Amino acid sequence: MDRVIAPAERLAGVVRLPGDKSISHRYALLASLAEGPSRIANFASGADCGSTLDCLEALGVAIRRENSQVLVEGVGLDGLRRPGRALDAGNSGSTIRMLAGILAAQSFASEIGGDASLERRPMRRVIEPLAAMGARLEARQGSFPPLRIRGGPLRGIDYQLPVPSAQVKTAVLLAGLWAGGETAVREPVRTRDHTEIALREFGAAVSVGQRVIRLAPRPALRGRELSVPCDLSSAAFFLVAGLIVPGSELILQDVGLNPTRSALLDLLASMGAELKIVNIREEAGELRGDLLVRHSAVRGGVIEGPMATAVIDEIPVLAVLGAASEKGLVVRDASELRVKESDRVATVAENLRRMGVEARVLEDGLEIPGRGKSAGRFRAAELDSFGDHRIAMAFAVAALRADGPSTLRGAETAGVSFPEFYDTLERLRA
Ligand code: S3P
Repeated sequence: MDRVIAPAERLAGVVRLPGDKSISHRYALLASLAEGPSRIANFASGADCGSTLDCLEALGVAIRRENSQVLVEGVGLDGLRRPGRALDAGNSGSTIRMLAGILAAQSFASEIGGDASLERRPMRRVIEPLAAMGARLEARQGSFPPLRIRGGPLRGIDYQLPVPSAQVKTAVLLAGLWAGGETAVREPVRTRDHTEIALREFGAAVSVGQRVIRLAPRPALRGRELSVPCDLSSAAFFLVAGLIVPGSELILQDVGLNPTRSALLDLLASMGAELKIVNIREEAGELRGDLLVRHSAVRGGVIEGPMATAVIDEIPVLAVLGAASEKGLVVRDASELRVKESDRVATVAENLRRMGVEARVLEDGLEIPGRGKSAGRFRAAELDSFGDHRIAMAFAVAALRADGPSTLRGAETAGVSFPEFYDTLERLRA
């Protein structure tokens, strides 16, 4: 679907974003494995978390969706049933990788695949540790979906993650629920810790040390009531929109502020963004609060090292901010960008080029020139989502600062994480 996006004069208003995608996946998985019912409020509305729910239903879990609430009848650690068909993770890397950890421990064989984008994403990173625990996994060319999984009794392992990946960490920890002994995962840099927090909330014994997480097997997981904070990665699109459109002022309510994710806010502040966090509170181990953002003259900056991991999903929209900033943005140590829903180094550079910004492509990132002191506009262009939700939304934001209407091809892919994105954006035009 093509969508025409006009430049914005000013954005203003109060926004409630959909529930956090990462947390929603984890709550759905753990609620299914717990004993008794769970009620999850503000569950993510995007197709990705829908894929997780569909897969869990195919595994015999009774799930009811009532608007943004999800009711899950937990089946316990021994209650999943062999699915009657291959499982479909759609576009969702989280679904296939995290479920692989669960399927690796089941007494039945299963298969899980997804769409064309998912079929290009590397799975060796979950296959290796799960095989070391005793499961047998086959993949196309040894690495690509669909995965054929033959589960069985697993042993606990002490695993050093070769790439910083919360999805892989989660797959290993979930498999560890059924292992014969303790499972340990060591991380090269800290990745989002929603799994550790959620496991504890559902009743598992998890200990977290310096870059090492340990899980005791066969915990008694109990169903419970939870509410998902709004998604900080979705908030990033509105933070950048508010920053680059002159005169804007936005309030984003009840956004997740987990410290393993909120480096984004420190980065924005260091670039010169006028940003406030108010009403900070904690629920079920997750911090949340309201964000206030005002249009600001942003200087630019560098994203590298652990910061690159912490803001990996926000880099497409941060690239747009960098291109609108005075000095530009350098992104390094982010080769993971190349194996997301699209090769985000290439797809960001291509859309920027169409808007008149010549970014230098690096092996592991980008060098994006700034605009100097002139607060100029981007060139209106024919943009492309390249089938990637975050590319679609990042360049819809860029189009707000263009010198005329832009067309965004494949705009509908935003629905993977944020079906209400364009309506929300339109509502904020003042
Ligand atoms: C996620 C982890 C990150 C992130 C993805 C969601 C998660 O991926 O990019 O959008 O929920 O655990 P990696 O595990 O590959 O780092």
